[in-house]
Amino acid sequence: MLDSVTVRVSGKVNLALSVGPLREDGYHDVATVFQAVSLYDDLTVTAAAPGSGIRLTVTGEGVGGVPTDSTNLAVRAVEMMAQHGGISDAILSLNKGIPVAGGMAGGSADAAGALVAIDALCELNLGREYLAEIGAELGSDVPFCLYGGTALGTDRGNNITPALVRGDYYWVLALADEGLSTPEVYGRVDYLRDLASVEVGEPKVPDELMSALLAGDSERVGKALSNDLQMGATFLRPSLSQLLAAGREAGALGSIVSGSGPTCAFLARDNIQALDIAVALTSTGLCRTVKRATGPAFGATVIDARSIA
Ligand code: C5P
Repeated sequence: MLDSVTVRVSGKVNLALSVGPLREDGYHDVATVFQAVSLYDDLTVTAAAPGSGIRLTVTGEGVGGVPTDSTNLAVRAVEMMAQHGGISDAILSLNKGIPVAGGMAGGSADAAGALVAIDALCELNLGREYLAEIGAELGSDVPFCLYGGTALGTDRGNNITPALVRGDYYWVLALADEGLSTPEVYGRVDYLRDLASVEVGEPKVPDELMSALLAGDSERVGKALSNDLQMGATFLRPSLSQLLAAGREAGALGSIVSGSGPTCAFLARDNIQALDIAVALTSTGLCRTVKRATGPAFGATVIDARSIA
């Protein structure tokens, strides 16, 4: 067994997120296209003395909102791995670069990181597919965070199929002061659909998006971005609509709320245009900060492993 393992995990944006009707288990069937982007969290897991339990410390931007008890998905992932040959005593150090409660799967990415870290630390070699099964119990986005890249997600978003994609994608991400609650955003979408008597069918990813990704045509990808959760997020946070409009005016190829928000994602032609869009968005005063990132980025990856003895 090793003494300490560090895993790097990426945030994500949803290029499409189609939401079906509310299921009996409280979830919605979705059809989504995830893309991992180059905003990272680093999680170091160190084996601790028997009986000391699991301790988590968090550093980085906006970490006030991150719980350090067993409601944190990374802690829960370590607890779950104990049933699969892992350990019950560990020190977790998390450095956050993925926005907290931002709709970019930061918490799910940390859970994916913890699964991979314990697997490596205890030399379990469970394999990504098995880790993804464990991860799906922790959260719908955890399996994707294990794989990274660009992928289709079905069922709750937990059933992952890698997508064929060409090219690099340049993103500008506008971060908000306060997070949005994912269940609340889903609930608002149900409410608004009810109000308008919308017939909700099977969720489906647009063919045009898949064909544009295959061609590596970012202009077409920008036009094909879609997110059914956007109406819920903009209802709860109307300033997001103004922010999306500001991105379009600045020439973004596409503007979209990321997942359940409130982070908004803007697709740029290249790095230079991304900088222009970032400057324009900053000057609106409608967001806390703006970051640039590229996709597709990688899934949960061991970047350091140590044995003290
Ligand atoms: O799976 P996860 O714990 O991330 O989901 C958080 C909440 O988001 C769920 O409790 C549910 O309210 C909502 N959700 C949903 N349908 C999905 C995924 C999430 O309704 N496919």
